Amino acid sequence: MSHSIQIAVVGSGYVGLVAAMCFAEMGHQVICVDNDERKVAALQGGDTLIHEHHLPELLERYRNTRVRFTTDLAEATNECSAIFIAVGTPQSDSGDADLSYVEAVASEIARHITSYKVIVEKSTVPVYTNEWIRRVIERNGVNREMFDVVSNPEFLREGTAVADFLHPDRIVVGADSERAAALLSAIYAPLTEGDYYKNEGAIAGCCSTSAPPPLLQTSTKSAEIIKHASNAFLALKISFINAVSNLCEAADANVEQVARGIGLDSRIGPKFLRPGIGYGGSCFPKDVAAFRSVAEQMGVDFSLLSEVEKINVGQKKRFLSKVRSALWTLRGKKLAVLGLAFKGDTDDIRESPAIDLVEMLLAEGCSVVAYDPAAMKRAEAELPASAQMRYASNIDEAAADADALLILTDWPEFAQLDLRKLNATLRYPIVIDGRNLYDPNVMFDHGFTYMSVGRPT
Ligand code: UGA
Repeated sequence: MSHSIQIAVVGSGYVGLVAAMCFAEMGHQVICVDNDERKVAALQGGDTLIHEHHLPELLERYRNTRVRFTTDLAEATNECSAIFIAVGTPQSDSGDADLSYVEAVASEIARHITSYKVIVEKSTVPVYTNEWIRRVIERNGVNREMFDVVSNPEFLREGTAVADFLHPDRIVVGADSERAAALLSAIYAPLTEGDYYKNEGAIAGCCSTSAPPPLLQTSTKSAEIIKHASNAFLALKISFINAVSNLCEAADANVEQVARGIGLDSRIGPKFLRPGIGYGGSCFPKDVAAFRSVAEQMGVDFSLLSEVEKINVGQKKRFLSKVRSALWTLRGKKLAVLGLAFKGDTDDIRESPAIDLVEMLLAEGCSVVAYDPAAMKRAEAELPASAQMRYASNIDEAAADADALLILTDWPEFAQLDLRKLNATLRYPIVIDGRNLYDPNVMFDHGFTYMSVGRPT
């Protein structure tokens, strides 16, 4: 039987905020700490600040009951037995993860420890971070018996973050002490014992089954490596299918048939075999680079990861070549761009291949009229509106009189365009689809010149 635990979550970014709200949903009392006063005020006022399913309803339900937002880490450390660190670990110039925020939080926590605490790394961090956190806390005068450091990596995806958190494939707890492992098991008990899924109002997962997830207990170092290795492996899978898609184009084969054919092998699996314009987002590019760098520092040859990155960059250039081959010269061409977010269902543009491509097109002298259902505000901060770069308020406005339409993000609504209307709206019926949202035969029947990824035109 699960019981309510006092939990602090430090950092209210994607992972921190989702973890805080989901712990509350699981029945715990949560203090969510951030040093950004404006963020804390916005969250207190009910603004989630990010576009994420279920987050507004959870914030509304719990912000004055089970979750408190504050800038006061001392108070949170005092009141809570488990303190999750979920601050950013951005990429530094060398490719390594910049762990200065993690270090700063660890020293600050150390200054306020007066009883036994479990400090949990939730941020994606390289192996050995756990040992550094332990050393930092000890250096700040805290006795080793007063705390443990645990690694509990998070595997949620943006866009489905809440459902992923509550319905994980597995929960990984890297703990070198039984006392700390027991606290983490108690925190996740509503999921691992299945009680949460029996609630009538439980948030559904992305898959149909809601079997309780297994909790895998490992050493802290193994847990740290599990997170980096998982993301690197998924990125590798994407680069692999992207390379195969290029081969399919050269051989006039169909990558969708090939992906299905290999994905039916249960050892390979069907997921993450969608070819496109390369992976982006705040995780894969950063984590592949960091994992490569960790291996390098430890004298391990992991040049496979450099190839993964090379294919990813090549995929954007290849898409640009497709635009060129459809339009001949690019200078002065007016292009409608659908999608700026790094993937559908998010307003996040970090490392978005769509943004990179728009920048490349602008550098080639094209003018761009872009539309994205959620990411335009963020995109405009990076690519200010100008005569060459415009933002449309809907799909029709973007497509009006354009020389071609480019699909760069897999938003569901971009897969349901009114093709008859689109043909009449564009100056030329040319669609270059970086996400394979349409059947080439249907596009041909509607009179389009249609190019996609790894499929015969
Ligand atoms: C990714 C992982 O999927 C999560 O498990 C992990 O927790 C998270 O990183 C993280 O470390 O925080 P996310 O970045 O939200 O999650 O997005 P994904 O859905 O994994 O997509 C990443 C990129 O790969 C996107 O640009 C997407 O368009 C691309 N992608 C994905 C493909 O090109 N093909 C695919 O088949 C799948």
